[in-house]
Amino acid sequence: MSYRKGSKVWVEEKGEGWVEAEVVEAKDRSAVVVLTSQRKKISVLPEKLLPRDTDENLGGGHVDDMTKLTYLNEPGVLYNLKRRYALNEIYTYTGSILIAVNPFTRLPHLYNEYMMEQYKGVQLGELSPHVFAVADASYRAMLNDSMSQSILVSGESGAGKTETTKLIMRYLTYVGGRAVLDDRSVEQQVLESNPLLEAFGNAKTVRNDNSSRFGKFVEIQFDKSGRISGAAIRTYLLERSRVVQITDPERNFHCFYQLCASGKDAELYKLGHASTFHYLNQSKTYELEGINNEDEYWKTKRAMDIVGISRSDQDAIFRTLAAILHLGNIEFSPGKDSDSSKIKDSTSNFHLQMTATLLMCDPDLLVSSLCTRSIHTNEGIIIKELDCAAAAANRDALSKTIYARLFDWYFLSALFDKFVCLHMLTHFLCFQAC
Ligand SMILES: Nc1ncnc2c1ncn2[C@@H]1O[C@H](COP(=O)(O)OP(=O)(O)OP(=O)(O)O)[C@@H](O)[C@H]1O
Ligand SMILES: [Mg+2]
Repeated sequence: MSYRKGSKVWVEEKGEGWVEAEVVEAKDRSAVVVLTSQRKKISVLPEKLLPRDTDENLGGGHVDDMTKLTYLNEPGVLYNLKRRYALNEIYTYTGSILIAVNPFTRLPHLYNEYMMEQYKGVQLGELSPHVFAVADASYRAMLNDSMSQSILVSGESGAGKTETTKLIMRYLTYVGGRAVLDDRSVEQQVLESNPLLEAFGNAKTVRNDNSSRFGKFVEIQFDKSGRISGAAIRTYLLERSRVVQITDPERNFHCFYQLCASGKDAELYKLGHASTFHYLNQSKTYELEGINNEDEYWKTKRAMDIVGISRSDQDAIFRTLAAILHLGNIEFSPGKDSDSSKIKDSTSNFHLQMTATLLMCDPDLLVSSLCTRSIHTNEGIIIKELDCAAAAANRDALSKTIYARLFDWYFLSALFDKFVCLHMLTHFLCFQAC
C-alpha cells in the first residue's frame, strides 16, 4: 500500500505495541516518516505500517461490528475493542461471531430478566451485541429450520468461556423453560449441573481462580414446541495429575477444600483442615477470595439434590473424596529386603485404615497393592517388591485413577440422560493435546 502525506496509520513501537500515527513525509518507497500520537517522529519502511480508520470515519471512535471497519487489521480490531471496553461495552460482533472481552467485574444489568426479554426473537444485529442475541439466533434457527445448532465457545484460560456458557444456558432455559419453575424442573437441573461440574472439575490456577480443568460438551434437547425436554453433558480430558500434584499458589479441585470445611460431614470421615493433607498442602493456598469453602460445600450438596443424585450416592462420592485424601497421607519407609517398602509409621497406618474403611476394602490387600507390583508372565504371576519412591508413585496412580473414575461415573451416569448444543473448546484442551 502506498502512503501520502497526511495518511492515518498504525506503527509498531518497541515496548508499546501498535500506536496511532500520521505520515508526515513520504518521499520515496524505501521509507516514510510518521509522527506518532506521542509526537515522536519515526522513519519506517512503508510495509511496516498499517492503514488506520480515524475516529471520525468510525462515527464516534468505535463500531459494534468489526466488519464496519474500513481497515480490518490487528491494531484496528484491538483499538476498537479497547474503546468499547472503556465504555463497558464488552461485546462486539465480527459478522455472526461474537467477541467477548472479560470485564472482571459483575455487570448484573447486562444479564437480568429484562435484558433476556429484550433479546427474545430479535434479529441478530438489531440490538447491541450480546451473548443473549447469539443464543437467541441459534434457538430461532433450530425452531425455523428444524435443525440442530451448535455454539462454539473458545478462548484462552480466564477469557470467560465458562461464564459465557452459563449465560447461554441461562438464556436457553429462559426462552425454552416452562412457566412455573420448581426446583427439580429440567431447566433447573440443567443450570445446577454447572456448580456441580465446577466443584469437581475446576481449580484455582495462576490465571483463573475457577479454571476448568476438563473440556465439556453440553447438549440441551428441545421438543417440537421449543420447550426443553432434556439435556446431556459429556466431559473429557480431565487434568487428573492435579489430584496428586499442585504448586503454590494453585489449588487442587474445589471439592476437596469444600469437604474439609464441611464441619460434621468432615468429622464423619475423620478429615481435618486442608493443610493436614499432602495432596492439598503442597500449596499454601487454601482459600479463594470472596468464597467460603463451607458455603460452597452446601451449594454443591443442594445442586446434587436438584440434579437428582440420591443421598446414598452423595455419601459414596464424598466418602471416595475423603479416601483419596487419606490415601495421599500414607507414607512409606524401607522394608526388610532391599528395594522393598512398608507403611512408615502409626500415622500412615491410621490413614491406611481410614482409606480401607472408606473404600470398603481389605487393608492388607491395600498395602500389598501399594507396596508390590504383580507381573504376569507365561510362567505365572510374579510379585515384585517396590521401593519407597515406587510405592508412593503407585499410591498417586491409584488416587488419580479413583478420582478420574469418580468424575466420569458421576457425569456419565449420575447426570441426565438434541438440538441446541454448546461446545467448549478450552485452551487447556489444546494444551492437553500437545
Ligand atoms: N461476562 C462476565 N461477567 C463478569 N465476570 C466475568 C465474565 N466472564 C468472565 N468473568 C470473570 O472471569 C473469571 C474467569 O472466567 P471463566 O472461568 O469463564 O474463564 P474460562 O475461559 O472458562 O477459563 P478456563 O479456561 O481457565 O476455564 C470468572 O470467574 C469471572 O470472575
Ligand atoms: Mg472455564
